[in-house]
Amino acid sequence: MTSIAVLGTGRMGTALATRLLATGHRVTVWNRTPARTRAAAAAGASVASSLADVDAGVVITMLTDAAAVHDVLAGLRPRPGTVLVEMSTIGPDAVRALEPPAGVTIVDAPVVGSVAAAATGALTLLTGGDVARVRPVLEALGTVHECGPLGSGAALKLVANTALVTGIAALADTVAVARALGVDDGAALTLLANGPLAGAARRAGAAGADFPIALAAKDLDLVRRIASPPMVDAAAAVLRASADPTADLGTVVPGALARR
Ligand SMILES: NC(=O)c1ccc[n+]([C@@H]2O[C@H](COP(=O)([O-])OP(=O)(O)OC[C@H]3O[C@@H](n4cnc5c(N)ncnc54)[C@H](OP(=O)(O)O)[C@@H]3O)[C@@H](O)[C@H]2O)c1
Repeated sequence: MTSIAVLGTGRMGTALATRLLATGHRVTVWNRTPARTRAAAAAGASVASSLADVDAGVVITMLTDAAAVHDVLAGLRPRPGTVLVEMSTIGPDAVRALEPPAGVTIVDAPVVGSVAAAATGALTLLTGGDVARVRPVLEALGTVHECGPLGSGAALKLVANTALVTGIAALADTVAVARALGVDDGAALTLLANGPLAGAARRAGAAGADFPIALAAKDLDLVRRIASPPMVDAAAAVLRASADPTADLGTVVPGALARR
């Protein structure tokens, strides 16, 4: 049994910790806001009261952004031989800029799939770097897709989210056009679910998806530091216009929520 620490028990970190426990691993969790460790603790995780107390062979970070990852790594005192698995979506440059302590290996493994997929081991993990030592742990969470050297998983993750967010934005605009034409949301979405935007329609109506619009906007910001084609800029504008940035991304599509 490998000892694993999950740092960050937000939506995804809690689901990851719960899944790792359910597959027989020993899991310690830490979160900046201690109250948010309760669900993982109830599922059997140990709770570290400080980052300096975290002691595990595999340390997973699942945090909001690069600033959070830097803050957390600064407080860690990992022993030599630890493998640090960076799962947050922070982009390849931020991954490559991480400076692990001596003897600590870093791999990037951002994930495709939301909370339900994390809880059931149905994620796709896009890995960069040498994952041989952590592959059994990652396989408990989903399908491992080795992308190449450090940062290459983070790069492919931004490709995935460019498609996801622009696809959802295109679907949102298409339903807005349907409304302007007097077409019922349900009729439009049923038709669209069988056309070229089928993947976006499936995602918009998916139960168990909890990827806030604010985090999707953060990912488009990461993309736009590298490339800013018109559809990406347009999708960013669609997200900015949303009334509730804490709601799931699918809610930018009118009528999609009613289909969950
Ligand atoms: N939600 C999804 O469906 C999904 C899917 C794939 C990838 N992702 C990516 O996975 C990552 C986590 O997403 P999430 O949905 O789990 O977000 P979340 O629920 O908002 O959790 C964010 C976590 O980051 C912590 N954090 C933020 N700033 C921090 C700081 N400065 N120092 C220490 N901890 C800090 C938060 O701690 P507090 O509780 O103290 O605020 C919390 O544990 C993001 O990069 C996201 O883009 C999300």
